[in-house]
Amino acid sequence: MKTILVTGANRGIGLEICRQLADAGHDIIRGCRDLRKIPSAENANMHNLQLDVTREESMKQALYEISKRYDRLDTLINNAGINGFRPTDSPVGLQHARTIVERLLPGSRKLIRVMVPVLKKTGLISSIDGAAFASLDEVRYIMETNFYGAWRMIQVFLPLLKKSSDGRIINISSGMGELKSLKGLYPGYSLSKAALNALTIMFSNELKETGIKVNAMCPGWVRTDMGGHNAPREVRQGADTAVWLATESEIPTGKFFRDRKEIEW
Ligand SMILES: NC(=O)c1ccc[n+]([C@@H]2O[C@H](COP(=O)([O-])OP(=O)(O)OC[C@H]3O[C@@H](n4cnc5c(N)ncnc54)[C@H](OP(=O)(O)O)[C@@H]3O)[C@@H](O)[C@H]2O)c1
Repeated sequence: MKTILVTGANRGIGLEICRQLADAGHDIIRGCRDLRKIPSAENANMHNLQLDVTREESMKQALYEISKRYDRLDTLINNAGINGFRPTDSPVGLQHARTIVERLLPGSRKLIRVMVPVLKKTGLISSIDGAAFASLDEVRYIMETNFYGAWRMIQVFLPLLKKSSDGRIINISSGMGELKSLKGLYPGYSLSKAALNALTIMFSNELKETGIKVNAMCPGWVRTDMGGHNAPREVRQGADTAVWLATESEIPTGKFFRDRKEIEW
């Protein structure tokens, strides 16, 4: 039985990864930045823990809580992710969104007032601005969670991972971060995942002697709040490769996977 920590586990792919791993009998710690948002744990081997990956204090507190209960961490799954500002997150983001829509639809202020919150909510604003017009505030904001958040999590939990005889780190990345297909769509998000992939390679090399395996995976386009209603995949399928990487007896290190198969960076 493994002890596994998953970030961003209160909904979407993270929640499903936890469900599948708990059903398989592993001890699961569901990290969630707001405990009011997480469903109550349905298995005795599932535990909820406050964990915001943009706040180092929160990570250290989580480490303290986990260390009280466990003598090691077998697997860290860096799943928490965002793809842009939410309207409530930043008036700066909203202002930027308004500027873009105004540029695209000059003169239509009433339409803009209606459209901007909708576009922001669906993430479409990020998709239409492209690298040339991207709000760098938004890019930094995304990097803080998707890239620095994952990096900091590895730093904080490394001592506990080193106590495992089969330590693993799984970074939930995206095909949008594949170097060969990088384009200006969702520029901040794509960049954050390309950077996360680079971090995966860096840590896999650095940690080779410890035996800790570090891999990245793309869940495909999945029906979640982030993926939206039109995504073809269910969460069950989106979670599958991460669950496989966490539980398969022999896995390589320093690779990028989708559907349990290695893909190009
Ligand atoms: N869905 C797709 O099609 C797709 C495709 C490729 C890759 N991915 C990747 O898969 C992962 C999960 O995506 P999803 O589709 O399940 O997204 P989601 O439904 O939007 O869920 C995102 C999760 O991340 C959490 N989160 C965000 N910021 C956080 C922070 N600072 N600290 C802790 N948790 C935080 C959210 O918590 P709150 O509820 O508190 O916001 C939520 O639990 C992400 O890394 C995403 O980039 C998704």
